[in-house]
Amino acid sequence: MNQIHHITHPLVQHKLTLMRKKDASTNTFRTLLNELSTLMAYEVTRDMPLHAVQIETPLEAMTSPMIDGKKLVFVPILRAGLGILDGMLNVVPGARVGHIGLYRDPATLQAVQYYFKMPSDMQERDVIVLDPMLATGNSAVAALDRIKALKPRSVKFVCLLTCPEGIAKVHKAHPDVPIYTAAIDRELNDHGYILPGLGDAGDRIFGTT
Ligand code: URA
Repeated sequence: MNQIHHITHPLVQHKLTLMRKKDASTNTFRTLLNELSTLMAYEVTRDMPLHAVQIETPLEAMTSPMIDGKKLVFVPILRAGLGILDGMLNVVPGARVGHIGLYRDPATLQAVQYYFKMPSDMQERDVIVLDPMLATGNSAVAALDRIKALKPRSVKFVCLLTCPEGIAKVHKAHPDVPIYTAAIDRELNDHGYILPGLGDAGDRIFGTT
């Protein structure tokens, strides 16, 4: 069953509130997103497998746990997912990065793919898909369909904001994929925007309108 991990840490909630404000500048929005993503990375990597390695402290030899960062693949959904990537890489700098390019057809709100590039050996890797807004769920489901066809070891989905409609859509198509989010907002409007939301995440990250 698909689990929702609602990250309620006070720092995450505080930064999200600042990001939602309509007068937050592009620079402020991007900086907060970067900080917030790093905080969320702690939650989403909590169950990463550890293996024991032999090291020497200044005093003696010991066996100590380490992660294998290369087994992890972050997959931002272009373009807004890029806003979460650096924050995640701050915590796992050795991770691989795949990219999937999807845009929302404004008339149908369906996801249209224009780019797909993943690391090799996906069967041995754990994938974390990144998109700030899980709204209609169409892009998320399309991305998860394509990524799961490569049979990765595990898949998680990270967003900043979601809503009941987006959760239901992903849950129906991919009940095994856990969703990590900082907020579950009220609803979608007729244009597929989350309410109260924070507007268009891509535009706010990149300063476009
Ligand atoms: N994408 C966004 O950027 N914002 C929304 O509210 C929904 C989808």
